[in-house]
This record gives sequence, C-alpha cells and structure tokens, in this order.
Amino acid sequence: MFVAGNWKMHTDHRAASRLASEVVRLTEPDARVVDVVVCPPAVWLEAVREQVRNSRVTLGAQNVFPGETGAFTGEVSPLMLKGVGCTYVIVGHSERRQYFNESDAFVGEKVKQVMKHEMTPILCVGESLEERDADNAETVVGRQLTGGLGGVSLKHGNQLVVAYEPVWAIGTGRTASPEQAQAMHAFIRENLIARFGAEYNVPILYGGSVKPDNATDLFSQPDIDGGLIGGASLDAESFAAIVRAAADSARR
Ligand code: PGA
Repeated sequence: MFVAGNWKMHTDHRAASRLASEVVRLTEPDARVVDVVVCPPAVWLEAVREQVRNSRVTLGAQNVFPGETGAFTGEVSPLMLKGVGCTYVIVGHSERRQYFNESDAFVGEKVKQVMKHEMTPILCVGESLEERDADNAETVVGRQLTGGLGGVSLKHGNQLVVAYEPVWAIGTGRTASPEQAQAMHAFIRENLIARFGAEYNVPILYGGSVKPDNATDLFSQPDIDGGLIGGASLDAESFAAIVRAAADSARR
C-alpha cells in the first residue's frame, strides 16, 4: 500500500517542518508496510527533507518542468528535484491541467523526464463531473493514460504510480463511492497491463476527499493500492490515521 500527502500551496516554513516531523513520528510503525510520501511546496522541500531524513517517510514534489536547465523563468527541473532529495513527483494533477492548461502531451513529457532522472512520477488522471455524467469517464481517463504514458517502458513496477482522482471529488468532500472508484481502478489496471504487461505491479492510488473515516472502505477494494491525500494530509493526525487504514489493509 502507498499513501502520499499533497500539501498543495499550504504551509509556511515552520508549519511544513512541524507537519513533516509529526508525520514521521505518527506513521513510524505503519511506514514499515506502507510507502509514506509527503509532497510539500517546492520551497520547503529542503526543510522537509531534514525532517524525514533517517525515517521511512520519503519526499515528493508537486510539479516539475520537463527539461534539465535553460531559460524557463520560474520553473523547477527534475535535476533540481533529484538534487534536493525527491523520490517522487506528482505529474498532471487536475489543478495543473485545469488552471495551467497542461495538455496530455506536456504531462507525458514530464513523466519521461522524471523517469529519466530516476524518480517515480505519480501520474494523476480523472474525469470532470460533466464527463462522468456524459458517460465519458473511461474515455477521458484512457486518453490521459495514453498521453501520459505513450513511449514509456518499465523495467520494474516501482518506476510508476498512477493516481485516479475524479475532479468532482477533489476538495469537495464528495468522495467517489468505493464501488465507483474500484470500477475505474479495474479499468486503469487493465489499461496498464495491456500497455506494460502483467508482470509490473504499478500502484494505483485513489484521490479525492479521502479522510480517516472513508479510507478503510476505499482501501479494501481489490484494485485500490492506497491514496493521494490533499486536505487531510495537512493534519498529521488525520494523515497518520489514513496511513494506519492502509497498513491495516496491507496486513489483512
Ligand atoms: P483532497 O485532494 O484530498 O483535498 O480532495 C486530493 C488531491 O487533489 O490530490
């Protein structure tokens, strides 16, 4: 099982350090059976790295530019993220697609750059409410997988993580039902097997209003391998409770 916290554009320097150290402390027993990742804002990566050093909690970034160096004012490259200690990079989050017009092709370039620098992309996919209501959810997610993973090949399963995050469930308090999520996860699983072969066990996370009180039901679904947590990751106790639910599911 795998649980990542996406802190988005929250925390200041002190709050980020404190949250990271609390996450380390509270997830300590469960981080033996769950991959626990924190993704702070880029400017706090170094401070958070100091807090997670010597623990099982690993570091992820929320975004990356698909190029190594150059005249790209304001951007952060995979080399820089690798240098500061990132193991994971969230790529193609719906907020990036929606507010910064990131296309499937651009997201695909990011995936390749992250892998080239031996970090693991957490590729986010998910349909909007209109797309779901029009019965287009699988078409949209299939297209996002093709855009994000075209030309990608795997040598082992932990080179890639996929997160299914229905846009209508992010930050809305309206989570997909475990059955709705499972159905899409099974579709994604089939797509990944067709693409890469059955030997790679790519974790498929669910994201969108995961809280301590719904995590157990979601994580008990056969194709849900963990969660990408936004709001609830800003509270160390809530995040640790979600990690505990994942650990309980892994131990069953
Ligand atoms: P949420 O965000 O848990 O606040 O819904 C999830 C995400 O956007 O990764």
